[in-house]
This record gives sequence, structure tokens and C-alpha cells, in this order.
Amino acid sequence: RDRQPIIAIDGPAGAGKSTVARQVATELGLIYLDTGAMYRAVTWLALQQGIAIDDECAIAELVNQCKIELTPSQDLQSPVRVWINDTDVTQAIRTKEVTSQVSAIAAQSAVRQALVKQQQIWGKRGGLVAEGRDIGSHVFPDAEIKIFLTASVSERAHRRQQDFQKLGQPQVSLEELERDIAERDRKDSTRKVSPLQKAADAIEIQSDGLSASEVAMQIIDYYQQRLS
Ligand code: CDP
Ligand code: CDP
Repeated sequence: RDRQPIIAIDGPAGAGKSTVARQVATELGLIYLDTGAMYRAVTWLALQQGIAIDDECAIAELVNQCKIELTPSQDLQSPVRVWINDTDVTQAIRTKEVTSQVSAIAAQSAVRQALVKQQQIWGKRGGLVAEGRDIGSHVFPDAEIKIFLTASVSERAHRRQQDFQKLGQPQVSLEELERDIAERDRKDSTRKVSPLQKAADAIEIQSDGLSASEVAMQIIDYYQQRLS
């Protein structure tokens, strides 16, 4: 092979993809690629420029002209800094507003085409852990390791609530979190262009009751078995 291995991790919101992907990447010395951050950055830019989320032409133009960068950072809270058109949006892309609009932007084929192309360029040499919704099924279909990471809606809502608590952010009820998560699952799984789905050759890990480190360890074991 003329490239290093790729680990693809897909799954619904709050399943632990980012946390686990980061741990696996650090442990194995691979680059971590957060593709969700790219969809969020485009959403942030559209909102900031006052472009209607359903104006597909304007959004297509926006995505084809913008420059997205992901750079490593020392900050443990957000080990990757996210930039769009040279603006640091690391924090700004995590707001409730962006979260509630991102699935509508991510359903647009022009957006997916542009971002997937960028991801494939970055992944050309391999050596990465890429995380998202369509990585194993579409972005890197020949990835050596494909993981479909899930957890129940209530478990995922609970994790999100704990994240807010840790960050000292205002409390959101479990019911509201469950509703938001279920709604985003529905939009991501039912869209026409590369919906969230388990690739045929992916391994499913149901993570209820498992810690992020336990999940990361399972993936590392599997990686070492497969590649030895
Ligand atoms: O971290 P969280 O699960 O909340 O979401 P994310 O990974 O940051 O992704 C945000 C949104 O981007 C998802 O709900 C999808 O709509 C979209 N997305 C996608 O369509 N394809 C990807 N490969 C990654 C994210
Ligand atoms: O990226 P995704 O939306 O799939 O999840 P995340 O942003 O990594 O958030 C998952 C949250 O649940 C983090 O606070 C993790 O520490 C925690 N968690 C986990 O990721 N995996 C587990 N097995 C258990 C908890």
C-alpha cells in the first residue's frame, strides 16, 4: 500500500466518536480528523453572513469559496482548533444555534461534495483516525478499520448533560437533550446524500456502560490484531 492505515469511526451524535477518536489517535500516533467540525464551520459561516440555511445556491457558493483549517492545539478542552476564512471558530461552532442547523446544511449535496473532497485530500497519505457519519461508507471506503459506534439515546443525552455540567454551562433537561439528539439522528439517517449508516464491513460497538477509554482500548486491540 502506498498509504498509512486509516481508522474510520462513524455513529450518531454523542456516541463518543470525538473523545474515542482522539484517544485512539494519540495512542497510535495517528492524526485525528473531526469531519463534523467542518460541517459546523460552514453552518457558522452561513449564519454569520445571514444566508438562509435552505438557500442551497448561496450555501454552495459559500462552501466552494471558503477555506477551512484544522490545527493542533495544546488546549486539552479542544485539542483541535477550527478555522474558517482565517477566523478561529473552535468555540463558536459548538453553540446550540449551530448544532440545531448543522444537519440541514450537511444534507446538501454541494456541501458534502466540497467537504468530502477536502477530507480525501487530507487523507491521501493515510495515518489518520477520521470520525463522522459517512467516513467508512463514503469518504474512505477502503479504510482498514471501520467502527460504527453507538449508544442509546438516553445514554447519549446523559453524556451531553455531563459535558455541559463540566463546562459550567447552563443546565439543559434530559428530555430536551433526548429530543434534540433524536431529531438530529432522524435527519442524519434519512437524508438522501450519504446518510448515517453502518458500512457493511464495519464493526459495531454499543457503548452503553463502557467508558471512553474502554472503547478506545477495544479499537486499538482490533487495530493491532488486524494489522499484525
Ligand atoms: O459531535 P456531534 O455528534 O454532536 O456532531 P458532529 O460530529 O460535530 O457533527 C455535526 C453534524 O454534522 C452531524 O449531526 C451531521 O449532520 C453532520 N455530519 C455529517 O453529515 N457527516 C459527517 N461526516 C460529519 C458530520
Ligand atoms: O463525537 P460524539 O458526538 O460522538 O461524542 P463526544 O463529543 O465525544 O461526546 C461524548 C461524551 O461522552 C464525552 O464527554 C465523553 O467523555 C463521554 N463518553 C464517551 O465519549 N464514551 C463513553 N463510552 C462514555 C462516555
